[in-house]
Amino acid sequence: GNGERDKLVQAHELAAKLYHYLLMNTTHGQPALQYLRGRGVTDKQIDQFLIGYAPPEWDTLARFLEKREFDSALMEKGGLLIGKQDKSGYIDRFRDRVMFPIWNRDGKVIALAGRMLGEGQPKYLNSPETMLFNKSRNLYNFHHARVALRKSRRVVLFEGYMDVVKAWSAGVHNGVASMGTSLTEEHAAVLQRNADEAILCYDGDNAGQAAALKTIPILEKAGLRVQVAMLPKGMDPDEFIEQNGAHAFIREIIEHPVSATKFKLLYAKKNHILLEEEGQKNYLLEAVRIIAVLDSPTEREFYLKELSREFDMSLDSLKQDCFNERQQLQ
Ligand code: GTP
Ligand code: MN
Ligand code: MN
Ligand code: MN
Ligand code: MN
Repeated sequence: GNGERDKLVQAHELAAKLYHYLLMNTTHGQPALQYLRGRGVTDKQIDQFLIGYAPPEWDTLARFLEKREFDSALMEKGGLLIGKQDKSGYIDRFRDRVMFPIWNRDGKVIALAGRMLGEGQPKYLNSPETMLFNKSRNLYNFHHARVALRKSRRVVLFEGYMDVVKAWSAGVHNGVASMGTSLTEEHAAVLQRNADEAILCYDGDNAGQAAALKTIPILEKAGLRVQVAMLPKGMDPDEFIEQNGAHAFIREIIEHPVSATKFKLLYAKKNHILLEEEGQKNYLLEAVRIIAVLDSPTEREFYLKELSREFDMSLDSLKQDCFNERQQLQ
């Protein structure tokens, strides 16, 4: 019931504050703090995002919540604690991890995510789905980003927590991320109510680019205009900012997105060997199929002309193929 939800929110708020306190004010937290600073996360962002540290002990949070008379069974249901196999008590879900609180749209902590300090699996551990936390609806940083969204009507989508945090310090205040799941129609519906335009800024690796390709139609179906801000091969936004600075990130990446169509064309191109005749022809036909779905004749002609220049083809034949493709779409 509502009583349970309120209790669980209270527990999450307290847990986030405890972890933040342990990070900032104890010797235990020092390695985690050094880790964050080493990754270029400023104290200002640690404060704003209430980043914390869950120590390695088995029951730091369990004892803390018990002392405050929270019902441990409810805390387990809420994903903060885990019941021991022999039923002799409860242990903490999150141990020896850098902690990122996850807020709902009202700014209440409803879940947590923890990152390992080094390498290892799983790199990130998220709260499970609970009565408070729905992964297919919730977006990391949405409650902060809302203010900027209202003004710009434009949202930037990242893959990771660290990307959102680092982008914020670079001046991108309209960034959000889905959490360990691909973007859903429900996410898109939430975004569409707050923005007209989405900029996808996913990792510059194969997984990130494939995810961007999959996300485009979901956002477009929800009624958002989509552009893609591409990163150099293999880099993610967090790494780009670290290596090149905030200014370059804004000027070279965020302010220079390509259209969704252009992104699809670039993505398709990588799968064809353009030095070979067959590769060229196959790419041309795939490109025409990508262009054919565009509603506007002007837009179609724009991209067909580009192709015709690039491959020295007549616009007429490309248009004819495009027309045939459109017949098949209907
Ligand atoms: P850093 O290495 O800390 O910079 O994280 P990242 O965001 O660059 O990680 P990556 O690009 O590998 O993954 C993107 C996002 O996917 C993360 O921010 C998480 O939300 C999620 N993710 C990554 N690894 C895991 C994992 O092991 N488990 C779960 N549940 N989610 C993960
Ligand atoms: Mn603080
Ligand atoms: Mn990645
Ligand atoms: Mn990444
Ligand atoms: Mn990263």
